[in-house]
Amino acid sequence: MASEIRDINLAPSGELKIEWVKKHCDLLRTLEKEFSETKPFAGKKIALSVHLEAKTAYLCKVLKAGGADMYVTGSNPLSTQDDVAAALVKAGLEVHAWHDCNDEEYNAHIREVLKIGPNIIIDDGGDLVHMMHTEFKALIPEVIGGCEETTTGIIRLEAMNKEGKLLFPMVKVNNAQCKHFFDNRYGTGQSVWDGINRTTNLIVAGKMVVVAGYGWCGKGVAMRAKGLGARVIVTEVDPVKAIEAVMDGFDVMPMKEAAKYGDFFVTVTGCDKVIEEEDFMEMKDGAILCNAGHFDCEIDMAGLRKIAVSSAPMRDNIIGYTLSNGNTLCVLGEGRLVNLACGDGHPAEIMDMSFAIQALSAKYLVEHGKELGTKLLDVPESVDREVAIKKLDFLGKKIDVLTPEQEAYLSNSNL
Ligand SMILES: NC(=O)c1ccc[n+]([C@@H]2O[C@H](COP(=O)([O-])OP(=O)(O)OC[C@H]3O[C@@H](n4cnc5c(N)ncnc54)[C@H](O)[C@@H]3O)[C@@H](O)[C@H]2O)c1
Repeated sequence: MASEIRDINLAPSGELKIEWVKKHCDLLRTLEKEFSETKPFAGKKIALSVHLEAKTAYLCKVLKAGGADMYVTGSNPLSTQDDVAAALVKAGLEVHAWHDCNDEEYNAHIREVLKIGPNIIIDDGGDLVHMMHTEFKALIPEVIGGCEETTTGIIRLEAMNKEGKLLFPMVKVNNAQCKHFFDNRYGTGQSVWDGINRTTNLIVAGKMVVVAGYGWCGKGVAMRAKGLGARVIVTEVDPVKAIEAVMDGFDVMPMKEAAKYGDFFVTVTGCDKVIEEEDFMEMKDGAILCNAGHFDCEIDMAGLRKIAVSSAPMRDNIIGYTLSNGNTLCVLGEGRLVNLACGDGHPAEIMDMSFAIQALSAKYLVEHGKELGTKLLDVPESVDREVAIKKLDFLGKKIDVLTPEQEAYLSNSNL
């Protein structure tokens, strides 16, 4: 089927964005060159659902250079950039996505990239894998395996695997060290504040920021809030993470209490209804609410809409909800991932590492798929190491190497 995008005439702006990304993605450029010579994906169909902006587009082009037929969709209605989608179509890829599609259109786009019978699936949040196992079961024998990009997708896969429902191997890309150490922490940390700052144009210094969740992403968001001069409160459900937040210099308290103090709220837990009705009623007039977790359920938007006496747009990507107490709460990007719905996502150099792992894991699946069964796999250690060594090299940094004596010392059990 032909691509379904907003407007092919937007391609020139998308092409510029992809060229900029390419300039800053050393690992992917190297892989593009290698893949165009070795063609590891020759004759393979790849279905991909990842936030459709320029870094993802470059990953798609790298996989295509490796011989793959690419079938591409987005992984969130607000993170798809129409000019980038147009540039991909112009480059000969099949794309089904447009910005701000409704739920029905979003699912229809996923259906289009699955019905071609993919051999490899590249997923971000689990929507492709879920629909493959429900509506497209008959095509599962064609699937060699897939790669999952994010924490929430892996939680969904682990639940499927535990119930014996996972029918092909999936690589947990998020769990590679060169992914979550950098993408979740530094990528989310920087891009969440980029999204908030460009959307609100308000000062952060001196304000109170409430970060819900102190996992890999939450640590990055809190760290960068502190760097911008904010005072930071962390909310958590894990006692160890809560102590970590205290030791990192942040205040810790339940959301019910933190709700009174926050000027900015950022949820990044992967959990449901982290901010709910009674919290909204405690918040200050003008409080800014946003989410950076994968799904738009962390701020209970249905609950907020129900208790709001009115709502109105306040600025691009900001809707104000006025409550019965007269306070207006300002929600960014409809409660969807603020760094992608209100920004361009992670910095290119960060996605260079994450997507190099995606590309190498997909290659690993093609090479080893038959031996892998139907399990959830870690990214092979060799892939993580290769990415780290090459990235250091591109950064121009050298490190020490263990001497044979040191190796012997470290492996001696009789110390
Ligand atoms: N915005 C982005 O670009 C981006 C990037 C990577 C991951 N993500 C998403 O962000 C979310 C978090 O990812 P992560 O890698 O930090 O996960 P993580 O598992 O490292 O951290 C999540 C933290 O939230 C805490 N938590 C869970 N429920 C909570 C609740 N009700 N209240 C307070 N804290 C709670 C957990 O204890 C944990 O410490 C996931 O949905 C992931 O898919 C988003």
